[in-house]
Formats: sequence, structure tokens, C-alpha cells
Amino acid sequence: MGLALAGPAWADAAADYAEHCASCHAETRMGGTGPALIPETLGRVKGLDQVIADGRPSTQMEGFADRLSADQIAALVDYIKAPVENVPAWGEAEIAASREMAADYTPADKPVFTADPMNITLVVETGDHHISVLDGDTFDVLDRFATPYAVHGGPKFSPDGRYVFVMSRDGWVEKYDIWSLKEVGRVRAGLNSRNIAMSHDGKWLAVANYLPQTLTILSTDTLEPVKVDVKARDGKPSRVSAVYQAPERKSFILALKDAPEIWEVATDPDAGPYEDGYVHSYEKGAKESFGAQVGLFARRRIPVEEPLDDFFFDQGYKNLIGTNREGTKGVVINLISGGKVAELPLPGMPHLGSGITWKRDGHTVMATPHLNEGVLSVIDMTDWSLVKQIRTDGPGFFLRSHETSPYVWADVFFGPHKDEMHIIDKQSLEIVRTLNPAPGKTVAHTEFTRDGSHALVSIWDDDGAVIVYDARTLEEVRRLPMKKPSGKYNVWNKINFEEGTSH
Ligand code: HEC
Repeated sequence: MGLALAGPAWADAAADYAEHCASCHAETRMGGTGPALIPETLGRVKGLDQVIADGRPSTQMEGFADRLSADQIAALVDYIKAPVENVPAWGEAEIAASREMAADYTPADKPVFTADPMNITLVVETGDHHISVLDGDTFDVLDRFATPYAVHGGPKFSPDGRYVFVMSRDGWVEKYDIWSLKEVGRVRAGLNSRNIAMSHDGKWLAVANYLPQTLTILSTDTLEPVKVDVKARDGKPSRVSAVYQAPERKSFILALKDAPEIWEVATDPDAGPYEDGYVHSYEKGAKESFGAQVGLFARRRIPVEEPLDDFFFDQGYKNLIGTNREGTKGVVINLISGGKVAELPLPGMPHLGSGITWKRDGHTVMATPHLNEGVLSVIDMTDWSLVKQIRTDGPGFFLRSHETSPYVWADVFFGPHKDEMHIIDKQSLEIVRTLNPAPGKTVAHTEFTRDGSHALVSIWDDDGAVIVYDARTLEEVRRLPMKKPSGKYNVWNKINFEEGTSH
């Protein structure tokens, strides 16, 4: 495991953990009152010794500097960063038993506010694990509700925009009723999870898990689970890097971390048959194939040369682009045939999941930032050729636009220029303005209002804010104080799969 702890030192750390930490973080380290303490979540986090010594102010995590020596604390850091050997079972029974439905919840029969329910914007505040519910016209905060610890991936709305589902990296899924401004309930769908996706008909929510190596499918109505073991063709289990909703195909698409396969799981009761093995004939009545799957949750395997991740879909869900593990290229897979259509040279870790599309010279183009390079790649989606690489002041994370907006908003998430937001003209592909609303602080992630008239930008800081801009004049209209706001999600733009937003 590459860590210094062994023999007696390991036993001492284990004993310290059992005595001081297990009551909140669980004997298994999978979390309880406090979050899971496992390498999957803590792997790259720095300053854990300080958290253990000093605690986290105004939370139940108190400091242990008065009880534990610096050496003991250092040993505990190694202990919680070591792989867990006995991952507890987390199957349907355990998931179902974790369900906590809110006792005081009764659904309202119409919104309890006068704001346009289709123009609600949610702001995830990672500083103290809350979500603010914004009226998209007045920018008033209608509610602020507690989320599970460390929300991960984008929240997903029901197709009618009434409910939203939020996932934490410890696999907790929370259901919130926007009309009633109330939590409906929560369930732990996995022990360590990546993201969620909503089925085309709003009946099912899929949860991509690392621990255990499964896909959990929840009934959106009751939060009850159906679990899908993810086993590759060779029989070995695989982590699920991400799950995507493909409403036009009535399916979920899965990126597998440990197998050269892409999965499509049907949310259509009439789906299939999908043949897993050798097929003699596709003619009606000829059933000489192995492992054919039909109906709801039928699974189709799409073999690929190497594992792909971080998918981007074209507007019709006919093709997907994924990146290889090294982050050196984009691979285009046609979802109808399952075949590879093209390879795009995209060095420098393209972040396709943030990609957006728009029309330019009669063609649809897509743009993607790169995580290792200060550049945006613009690709022509008709022939997959590279139109331009736009130089930026550093690697970016999120891109956003809106049908009505002439601009792409591109943050500079990494490096010394993290306080900048580039405004790029969608036709000339030139940076026309660079905003710097909070010098020295990270400025990131844009979301538009329903009509595209305003753009909301996060100042990603404990003492942060959401800045509302007039999307045409680029003038600041309002600044709403928020605790480390990260993503923002407009109901209308999300349920309509607006082309200027990643899905
Ligand atoms: C009384 C309950 C409780 C006890 C006991 C406790 N913790 Fe925590 N711990 C928490 C809570 C709650 C949080 C989340 C704090 C927050 O909201 O930031 C936390 C957070 C942490 C974090 C930060 C995790 C992250 O993902 O950011 C670490 C590391 C941690 N605890 C380690 C420990 C260790 C090691 C011990 C034993 C020496 C311990 N804790 C004992 C409740 C507890």
C-alpha cells in the first residue's frame, strides 16, 4: 500500500481510530455522523493532520490535539488513507434499510411561492453543505436546505422540473420537492459514488458507484433500490466512472473504469434484445444467441479498445465522445452501430463532460476545456475536425452558454489566473472580454437564467458569492453572499437539455 504504517504502528493507529473516531466515522470507515474516511475520497486531500488536530469549526468534528500527539495524528492520517480491506456489503437490503423518508413531508398541490417554478436556480454551497433555491427572476433566496456531506456531480431534476435529486460522494441521494420547498427523503445508494442520472420518463435514478462496484437504480417515487452488479465480459467487476442520461435513446449510458466496455442500460420496457454473445441470426424467431437481454434495464455492451471516460453526447444522442485514460485523445463512438467513428487528437486532458455546442457558419461546433493546458478546443461536429484552439490564461473547468447568448463563458480554474472569466465570441472564437470580479479568488462555473438574460457566476470561496451579470452588457447586477458556491443549475435549462449547458 506504499504507506509507512506496519505491524505495531498499524495496530496503535487502529486502536486510536477505534477509540476516538469510530463512533462518528464508523468502525468500517464508511461514515456515519461524519463522512467516510477512505482513500477514494481522501486520497489527494492535503492538511488532514490539521483537520484532526484542530477540528472543523461549528461542526461536530472537534480537534484532537489535546488528546493525541503529532505522531499519533500522523499515523491516523496514514491509517485513513490506506485502502479498506473489508468493504462492507452494500446490496439492495442495506440500501433499502438506509432509507430515511422525512416524517413532516406532505406534497404541496402547487408551488408554495409565486416565482416561476421553471426559472428556479439551485446553488450548491459546498462550504457548509447546503443548497440555496433562487428565484431566477428576482434572485431572492426562497429556501436554503441541508444536503448530505460533500455533494458530488450535478443535481438532476425530474422531467417536469418539480423534484431534484442530489448525491454526495459517500453515496447519499437526497430527494427535494421544489414546489413544497421540503426534503422528501434520502437513501444511501452506494458507499462511494460518482454521479447520478435521471431516466427519460422520470421513473428511475441511476447512481454510479466506485464502492461497491455497482450501478444502483432507485425508484424516484419511493427511493427504493434495484441494484445492478457491474461485471465486465470477462466476469470481473468494474467501477462505474459515470452514468449519463440519454433521454432520446430511453437509456442510461455507463462509462466503466476497469473494463474496455461502454454499457447502455435501457429504461424502456420494450428494449432489446441485446445480444451478449455469439449470434447466429438476427432473423425473427432465430434465438440462437447467449445472454440476450430484453425489457426494462436490459443491458447492451459496447466493446471499445480501452476504457473511456468523461463522455460528451451530441444533441441527438447519436454519438458520444470519450477520453482515454491518459487524456491524450477523444474517441467518437456511434451509439447506433456501437462502432468507432473517429479519433480526435486532444492532448492535455480534455474535459469533455463540460463540453457545449452551438451553431457557427451553418455547422454545429463543440468546445471543450483542457485540465492540463490553457486552451479550449473547438471541434466541428459534422466531420470531427479541429476548428481552432483558443489560448486562455490557464486551464479551465467549466464552459457555459445559452441559445440566446452570443458568448461562451469560460473560467480559468487552475493556475495564477483563477480569478478570471473569459468571455468568448461564439462566431469569431476570440476572447472579447476578461472579467475579474474578485481579484485573488477562484471565479468559476456559469449558469444562465431560463431566458438567457442573466449569467450567474460563482466566487468559489468560504466567504464567497454568486454574481449576477447582465448577459448582454456584461455588467454586474447583483452579488449574493454564499458559502463556497460551486455549481448552479437552472430548472428550465436542465430539463430542456439547453445546448449551452453540459448534461
Ligand atoms: C463526534 C463525531 C466525530 C468524531 C468523534 C470524529 N469526527 Fe471527524 N468529522 C466529523 C464530522 C461531522 C465531520 C464533517 C465536518 C464538516 O462538516 O466539515 C468530520 C470530518 C472529518 C475529516 C474531514 C473529512 C473530509 O472529507 O473533509 C477528517 C479527516 C476527520 N473527520 C477525521 C477524524 C478522525 C481521525 C477522528 C478521530 C481522531 C475523528 N474524525 C473523530 C465527526 C466526528
